[in-house]
Amino acid sequence: MKELIDQLEQTQLLTKKEFEYLLQDHTEESREYLFERARAVRHKHYGSTVFTRGLIEFTNYCKNDCYYCGIRRSNTEASRYRLTKEEIVACCENGHALGFRTFVLQGGEDNAFTDEVLVDIIKEIKENYPDCAITLSIGEKRYESYKAYFEAGADRYLLRHETANDEHYSKIHPNELTLENRKKCLWDLKEIGFQVGCGLMIGSPYQTVGCLADDLLFMHEFQPDMVGVGPFIAHHQTPFAQESNGTLEQTLVMVGIVRLMLPKVLLPATTALGTIAPNGRELGILAGANVVMPNLSPINVRRKYMLYDNKICTGDEAAECRVCMDNRMKSIGYELVVDRGDRVK
Ligand code: 5AD
Ligand code: FES
Repeated sequence: MKELIDQLEQTQLLTKKEFEYLLQDHTEESREYLFERARAVRHKHYGSTVFTRGLIEFTNYCKNDCYYCGIRRSNTEASRYRLTKEEIVACCENGHALGFRTFVLQGGEDNAFTDEVLVDIIKEIKENYPDCAITLSIGEKRYESYKAYFEAGADRYLLRHETANDEHYSKIHPNELTLENRKKCLWDLKEIGFQVGCGLMIGSPYQTVGCLADDLLFMHEFQPDMVGVGPFIAHHQTPFAQESNGTLEQTLVMVGIVRLMLPKVLLPATTALGTIAPNGRELGILAGANVVMPNLSPINVRRKYMLYDNKICTGDEAAECRVCMDNRMKSIGYELVVDRGDRVK
């Protein structure tokens, strides 16, 4: 196992069989070694700094119906909201004062936010905060739409591929969503010039280690700038209500492998990781992650953006989360920085 980890660090790639072995047969000892190597690689490129992104969840309306997600259109019990442009800009103002230099606009696929409306919001934020990066996380769009957002000033785009295995993709999504289109969107975003993030949930229903190995091979091919990896967590108002959650261990192993395979990648210790374990985000950083994404959404909508059950930080003001995160990072010897946090070249 150690030899394989060394090999991954040196060559940044393994075969599907080797990845499966790494994902399946890890022990406490091999995990410690993996995390140690992942930290070493992360320190080489990013030292002990942790980048922050202020997350603004601006709409929970969604036209999609992904089986795992709490804001899927069929969840009639979800209480829906949209932020106005003024409310979004106010989140940025608050965030900028707190030291955030990247704003992530995340939402369901909501047709009320037309390209025109989004372009207007992006331009306004860029005008007010030219020192900040804007990341969009608003799902599958047409090439022309992505291009319009980029030309308006958006810098980065997060679109998790969710699973790189076709059969698995069709078991966790309705038929109208396809892996083929998801991948096309990712390649379009890259071609346009965005810094692009893909990613997946660990332990989603029907996922096998073969699926995870496929995810790694796809990510190696795609060479994303960012990768989002968090555990699947069941939401009680979805078809997957009774499914079990992804584990802390397997999520951390994936974080470590991704760091070794994509040494310079921007890799968040996700909120979902912090939800399945009280110190999940700290452990994520210690497994090779280098980004955290505290919530900047207005407090009155926090509880409505429930992708999964028991999501943390839904009752805390942005300022409280910033201080809390600062302390959490310091407690493990890392430091939040006031910086756009671009990927190193
Ligand atoms: N558990 C964990 N993550 C989820 N996401 C959606 N639903 C869940 C869930 N139940 C993730 C998806 C999506 C991102 C915004 O949130 O991977 O891409
Ligand atoms: Fe939100 Fe700790 S990060 S309360």
